[in-house]
Amino acid sequence: MQPVVLRTERLVLDQPTEADAARIADYCGDPLFERFLTTPWPYGLQHAETFVGTLVPLGWSSDTEATWAVRTYEGGPLVGVISYRTARSDVGFWLGADARGQGYMREALGAVVQWALFSGDVPPTDAVTWEAVAGNRSSAAVARAVGFAFTGTAPSSHPGRDGSPVPAWHGVLLRSHDASQAEASWPEETLL
Ligand SMILES: CC(C)(COP(=O)(O)OP(=O)(O)OC[C@H]1O[C@@H](n2cnc3c(N)ncnc32)[C@H](O)[C@@H]1OP(=O)(O)O)[C@@H](O)C(=O)NCCC(=O)NCCS
Repeated sequence: MQPVVLRTERLVLDQPTEADAARIADYCGDPLFERFLTTPWPYGLQHAETFVGTLVPLGWSSDTEATWAVRTYEGGPLVGVISYRTARSDVGFWLGADARGQGYMREALGAVVQWALFSGDVPPTDAVTWEAVAGNRSSAAVARAVGFAFTGTAPSSHPGRDGSPVPAWHGVLLRSHDASQAEASWPEETLL
């Protein structure tokens, strides 16, 4: 598929480019990424260049992964990344440390979920899934705010950097989701 641009009240989501590589490399050196993501560690400029130059375009052209830069205005600096993978209908996201605490990821994730469920640009799905390393309450708060329901703790579908299974929290947002049922599904341990 061709890259798609999504717009929300405060954000523009578009394809990350080589011009974003240095910021991506800086942001991905955050110790939280070592703990909660499967991005390479330590993360260097070369990783970011391969990401924007090869992996992102390949994801779009092969219909396997739609990846967006999160920007607060057209042509503005990248403040985060969000993606939707078609194989498992799942989402992944991060924000640079200086862009957190403003609701940007809730806004971005809401737009991506709507796009995945209703745009028709990707194979139809009745459910978008989310998972995070168990203990990642910030990620859970974003998923919960957007309307995902918690479905349990189970090994992550992405093994850890050493190949071993990682305990993960899982969630789902159904096309026909019931907001109050979803809200009630989150156990205490996942709450911020
Ligand atoms: C997960 C991550 C993206 C969450 O970032 P975040 O800034 O907490 O999430 P949001 O952008 O949705 O912002 C929500 C916060 O902004 C606040 N906020 C401020 N203005 C807001 C607004 N207008 N609308 C909504 N929320 C607003 C919310 O109250 C909330 O703060 P709280 O968490 O203290 O309650 C971020 O912690 C991160 O990148 N972590 C490292 C990578 C990672 O773990 N990624 C997920 C892997 S599964």
